[in-house]
Amino acid sequence: MGETMVENTVFSSLTDSRKAFDMLAGATFERSYPASEPQADRLFVKLAHLEEVYPGFRNWYWGKVIDGFIDGSRRAFVAGGDQVTGIVIAKRTASERKLCTVWVDSRSGGRGVGAALMKDAMSWLATDKPLITVPAERISEFQPLFKRWRFSLDHVADSMYRYGRREYVFNLKSNRN
Ligand SMILES: CC(C)(COP(=O)(O)OP(=O)(O)OC[C@H]1O[C@@H](n2cnc3c(N)ncnc32)[C@H](O)[C@@H]1OP(=O)(O)O)[C@@H](O)C(=O)NCCC(=O)NCCS
Repeated sequence: MGETMVENTVFSSLTDSRKAFDMLAGATFERSYPASEPQADRLFVKLAHLEEVYPGFRNWYWGKVIDGFIDGSRRAFVAGGDQVTGIVIAKRTASERKLCTVWVDSRSGGRGVGAALMKDAMSWLATDKPLITVPAERISEFQPLFKRWRFSLDHVADSMYRYGRREYVFNLKSNRN
């Protein structure tokens, strides 16, 4: 396991979207699965640190996200094999098409993992302008990707998730019903 597997996964995702879906998302993620599934744990271990940026992340994940996996309104797109290197969680309902969580391990950064996962998620969402919010301190990392897809910065919210911190809201107008 290691870099080779990661590279293969990424390159496959860029060249063959169906295969990419199978490799990135895997059969497990194509189905809904209950919270007791080890896969849900495996993803949470990688994302738990986001509690610092989003207080309440743990409760949100084990409540709303898992419920969403079960009812089909949310899907996880995952890169890597035994070692998960990137995760995107997307939500698709009648009123919302959103990239809820986008995370790539810093050791795998800059290799196209984030772009490939977001592309797959947007394909499932059937939109190239999904709603997404990003904390101020992460905006520079996301900027190249958002520029590539012409995401529109529609709102800057003060203290949305943390007091005194700014959250940048993209594609809000495209998602207004
Ligand atoms: C933003 C993020 C998803 C990018 O993932 P990635 O796999 O490194 O991105 P890619 O390799 O697909 O690169 C896409 C572009 O972003 C650029 N990029 C990647 N990391 C960057 C960084 N740290 N700073 C600036 N640009 C960066 C790449 O150079 C590339 O630019 P290009 O298209 O002009 O060549 C990743 O850095 C990340 O997970 N950051 C933390 C996310 C986070 O905190 N999420 C929680 C809140 S939603």
